[in-house]
Amino acid sequence: MDNQKHSILYVDDELVNLNVFKTTFRREYAIFTATSAHEGMDLLRQYPIDMIITDQRMPRMTGVEFLKWSLEEFPEKTRIILTGFSDTEAIITAINECDIYRYMTKPWDTEEMRLALKKAFETYQLRQDNFKLLEDLKEAKESLEQKVIERTTEVTQQKEEIEYKNQVLQSQNSLLKELDDERNNITSMIVHDLQSPINRISGLLELFEIEGNLSFNENQKIYLDLIRRNISDASRHIRNLLDIKALEKNLNYQMPLSKINLASLLPQLLVAYREQASKKQVNLLYESNSEEVFIKGQEDYLNRIFDNLISNAIKFSPKNVNSNIFIKIKENGKYVRISIQDEGQGLSEEDKKNLFKKFQKLSARPTNGESSSGLGLSIVKSLTERLMGSVWAESESKKGATFIIEFPKYSSH
Ligand SMILES: Nc1ncnc2c1ncn2[C@@H]1O[C@H](COP(=O)(O)OP(=O)(O)OP(=O)(O)O)[C@@H](O)[C@H]1O
Ligand SMILES: [Mg+2]
Repeated sequence: MDNQKHSILYVDDELVNLNVFKTTFRREYAIFTATSAHEGMDLLRQYPIDMIITDQRMPRMTGVEFLKWSLEEFPEKTRIILTGFSDTEAIITAINECDIYRYMTKPWDTEEMRLALKKAFETYQLRQDNFKLLEDLKEAKESLEQKVIERTTEVTQQKEEIEYKNQVLQSQNSLLKELDDERNNITSMIVHDLQSPINRISGLLELFEIEGNLSFNENQKIYLDLIRRNISDASRHIRNLLDIKALEKNLNYQMPLSKINLASLLPQLLVAYREQASKKQVNLLYESNSEEVFIKGQEDYLNRIFDNLISNAIKFSPKNVNSNIFIKIKENGKYVRISIQDEGQGLSEEDKKNLFKKFQKLSARPTNGESSSGLGLSIVKSLTERLMGSVWAESESKKGATFIIEFPKYSSH
């Protein structure tokens, strides 16, 4: 059988009809013929036949009966029934119960039959193509579903892995935190315990000076001065460390604030620095437009803030070249600005990035052997922010540094 051709089973008890059909269409189709329904059924079971054409009037089994029978086993075939003009009942049954493609009246006309077969196979082909498409679609859907399942499994695995890593990280984190807390506690204890002996040494030193003042020679006086300075450095370090600890502990603590006159607080504070500054030939120049500049603040915090900024300005000012430090208070709309400007080496761009972080010693080094632990500015920032203010630095390298603090002006409500 030619594989390319569609195949037709033609069933008719009249041999002549079978022969005419076969001779007429054998070039276009693979033709199988049978003289009875049973013979036709045998052929259907043996060969891959696409279409059944059957005569209605046959002796043992009618066309309609044969088609019904074939429908049970071969529902996908295209069916055509050939009837006489008057066989309306057979036609209705064929349409209703045998799923026929069409009926044709006998005797059939060759051209009409050719056209009918052509159309029937076109429809058949369309159905086949549709069926194939549906199959392909089903396959694609299944493979897509498979992919989704695989991907979902992969993602779930990754998620589990991430969750596991997260857990490991969390437990490492809490271990680190424990270690850090322990370290902090030890540091706090040491710092705290150092405070009393240092205070006692200070007191003893004063007694020592009072009692032996007259009998000290010049060298001994210099040594004593050095001891005093070192002790005051140590106690400042301790106070800074204690401040940092306290600030870290009470992150959300809101200070009770009161009305404070900066134009009286700042000059008082400067008095304590005049001697230290003049030893390096540094002039402290204070300027304010008004004698009353009020903010809402807390005196101890403000002392610590300006203490750190003024001591820095002196510490990083050049020694013995008659340089200046300008301390200015200016009102600026709803704010008050305090600037502390020195003529030291200033800050590099890199310095500016790390300026207010803890334990930062940057480009500038103290110019007269002063101590430096890199804590002061971080305390300044924390305290300023607690007082609702802000702090920043402006500087061009080699042209000195200006630290600026801004607080909201005092208002009664
Ligand atoms: N006025 C300034 N001019 C130039 N550099 C400065 C100035 N003030 C601070 N710096 C730089 O910033 C660093 C950090 O300052 P910070 O006040 O935090 O620490 P410190 O003065 O070194 O030590 P301390 O804890 O005693 O205050 C300083 O070591 C210095 O390098
Ligand atoms: Mg400092």
